[in-house]
Order: sequence, then C-alpha cells, then structure tokens
Amino acid sequence: MKLTILGGGGFRVPLVYGALLGDHAEGRVTHVTLHDLDAGRLSAIARVLAEQGAGVPDAPVVTATTDLDEALRGADFVFSAIRVGGLEGRAADERIALAEGVLGQETVGAGGIAYGLRTVPVATHVARRVAALAPDAWVINFTNPAGLVTEAMSRVLGDRVVGICDSPVGLGRRVARILGADPDEAWIDYVGLNHLGWLRGLHVGGRDQLPRLLADEQALGSFEEGRLFGPEWLRSLGAIPNEYLHYYYFNREAVHAYRQAERTRGAYLLDQQAGFYREMGKADTPPLAAWHRTLADREATYMAANREAAGIGERDEEDLESGGYEKVALALMRAVARNERATLILNVRNRGTLSVLDADAVVEVPCFVDATGAHPVTVAPLPYHAVGLVTAVKGVEREVLAAAESGSRATAVKAFALHPLVDSVAVARRLLDGYTDEHPGLAYLRS
Ligand code: G6P
Ligand code: MN
Repeated sequence: MKLTILGGGGFRVPLVYGALLGDHAEGRVTHVTLHDLDAGRLSAIARVLAEQGAGVPDAPVVTATTDLDEALRGADFVFSAIRVGGLEGRAADERIALAEGVLGQETVGAGGIAYGLRTVPVATHVARRVAALAPDAWVINFTNPAGLVTEAMSRVLGDRVVGICDSPVGLGRRVARILGADPDEAWIDYVGLNHLGWLRGLHVGGRDQLPRLLADEQALGSFEEGRLFGPEWLRSLGAIPNEYLHYYYFNREAVHAYRQAERTRGAYLLDQQAGFYREMGKADTPPLAAWHRTLADREATYMAANREAAGIGERDEEDLESGGYEKVALALMRAVARNERATLILNVRNRGTLSVLDADAVVEVPCFVDATGAHPVTVAPLPYHAVGLVTAVKGVEREVLAAAESGSRATAVKAFALHPLVDSVAVARRLLDGYTDEHPGLAYLRS
C-alpha cells in the first residue's frame, strides 16, 4: 500500500508517520512518498522519519521527490497537506486584515478567504493530476481552509476526496472525558462546516449526556471550550461550539487580542519554523528531539490570542499532546482499505444531510466509513442561528470557488464582502487590493 504525502516537507508529517509505525496489520501502508516543492524541507523531515523508524522492523519505506507526477503514480492514498504561499503568506494574510480592523485568521474571515483564493487553483490542479495518474486513489485533504479546499477537489474527484480536521475530535474527547464516557463508544452529535460546527449531544447507551454537563457550572468551566466561551453562553446555545466559533461569538475581543499581540500566529510560526528547518540543516542536530521540542512549543501557544481575549490561562496538559488528526487519518485509511468500519467526523459532500445546503456542499458531520467510502449520517436540523452562519459562510465559499474559476475580481470582492466578519463592501475592496498586491498567487484575479 503506497501513501503519498503532498506537503511532505511539512512539520506535521512525523505525526502521520508515527501513527503508521503503530500499524502492523495486513494491508498497512508499506511505502510513503513525500512530495514537496522544497528539497531542503523534504530532507529535514526525512531525517526525522528515519530516526522515528529506526529499529521498527516493518517501518514503511520512505522516498522523497519534488516531482508531483512521480509522487502520485501508483498511490493508493494521497494526503494533501500543502501551504500555498508558505507561512510568509499566512503572516501577510493576518497583517493585511488586521490593518483593516478585521480578522486575518488562516481559516476564518478575511484571512481564510485570501488563503482560499490562492489555494483553490493549486488544489484543483492537484486533484486533476490525481484523476489522471492515480484515479483509484483516495485523497485525504488536510489543507486549510479544509472544507473549502475539499469542496474544490470534490468537483474533480467526487467522493474520492475526504477532508479532515482534528478540532471536532478534540472537542468530543474533552466533553466525553468530563462526562466520564469513552469517546470511542459515545455517539457524538457534531454538525456544521469545517471550523464552524457545534457539538449538540453526546449519547451513551442511547441517552444524551450533554444536558448533564450543561447543568453543571463547575464542569462547564473545566475544559477548553467551556473556559473560552463561558458556561453562561454555552447554556444559552444549548451546545458546545467548535473553538473556532470564538472568532464569531467574541469577534471584537479576538480581533483586539490579535492586534495587541506582539506577533500574529503566522508571524510567530514563520520564525519558529524557519528556526527548526535551519537547525535541521546542521548535521549534528538530533532530528527527533529538535522536532519534539518545536512541536511542544507550537502546541502550547495554539490559539493563545483567543485564550488571552477570554482571560483564561494555559492549555490543559491533555490537550497538548497533539490532537490526533493523524489518528483520524489512519482510521479513515483502515476503514477504506480493509473495510474496518468506523464512525468519524469528516468533511464530505452533503448529499441530503443538511437540508439547508445543496447536495454538493461539503459539510463536517459524522460519517460511517467502510470500503465504499465515507457516508454522512442523518442528523437533526440546525437551529436558525446556526443555519444563518453556515449558509452565509457556504455562500462565501461558493464565491471563492467561482472567483478561482473565472479570475473575476468582482466575484472575489463579493466573497470578502459577504462574510459575516467583514463589515463593509469598501473594506472588502481594500482587502482584495491589499492581498493581490502582496501575493503573486493571486495574480490570476485580473478580469
Ligand atoms: C488545529 C486546526 C487545524 C490547524 C491546526 C494548527 O488543529 O484544526 O486546522 O491547522 O490547529 O494550528 P497552528 O496555528 O498551530 O498552525
Ligand atoms: Mn482544522
């Protein structure tokens, strides 16, 4: 079984490889091909993987290439985890938005739109190459903004592409832990779009345990989302929102904290990651130790500005061990390759799941997965306030996809202007000008 990882020089690749090393069953991945545009990043990550695999007798063989077609030929699975424009791009996305007083986060608001506009054309190209060279491969998309990018790829690959995020799993795990439930046994009623969803119930033995949590003030204040949103707001909603909804429900405070911060997340990571890859260029750097250190630092500072805005402290110890997107990816691969049935929260085409969206809209919902693919399960309808956000943001995503296809600036302006976190058409126009001045990857927006 061959797995190709696009963005194979990326920092999180060792998480995936670590998960593969724990799989010894028949039908496991035996070959990993890393693809990246940057040979230096590839060799840095290859060094980490070599140390991880040392002494593991059935460790998957690793090869690396900068040639996309070569990487894709013969792939059974393709992980796509690319970052178009790099962390420089991410930092610029934040800076330009914040200068206009709006949020520049990489997946939410203006920043997410800018990132989506430069990523969609590249992801579409990748999808076409997969369709041509590895038509039977399953594509697992991690590339952010994950819902939008998965939808772009699904226009080429249909249901052969599935998007992944670890935030719903992390949320489900935290809520289960507090309720004393086993997250693998519980049925987690989580619905929405990527980074825009709500946990509305957690059922054990057919009974919803969430009301018990909502009634317990102390328990509500004892986990990440409870502290971020506050018990009172969670009770008002009657659900636990994904942490990314902090950008919506406390937008003013989040933008303020981002502006106050010494450096934005992107600027911080740009420095941190450059340091890591530089260190890896030196022969005497112990690869795995350097990687672990950098990872711990990255995890500890995740969403720091939001936690600052909410006036809450550090992350919980349990949340620091990386969130497990690699576990979701592995479970998904096993389910598909070996028909090991699983229920996973994934980004897939809606079909009829959420009646307010059309069949092709990619949504993030629980899915039954087996050798035939990921099938969204029937869920209860969303309340109107959630329908409002979900349909508004899906509307924005559709404008991004249309702009990426046509190169129309007016359509790109429409995408920014219609976002609930962009408060003026005039701001939307300036944002597009700012972003196109900055990013060569947006040069296609001409007409
Ligand atoms: C969470 C999100 C991902 C995101 C990751 C990294 O896991 O669900 O979509 O890529 O955090 O955040 P960072 O700010 O460390 O790049
Ligand atoms: Mn995510």
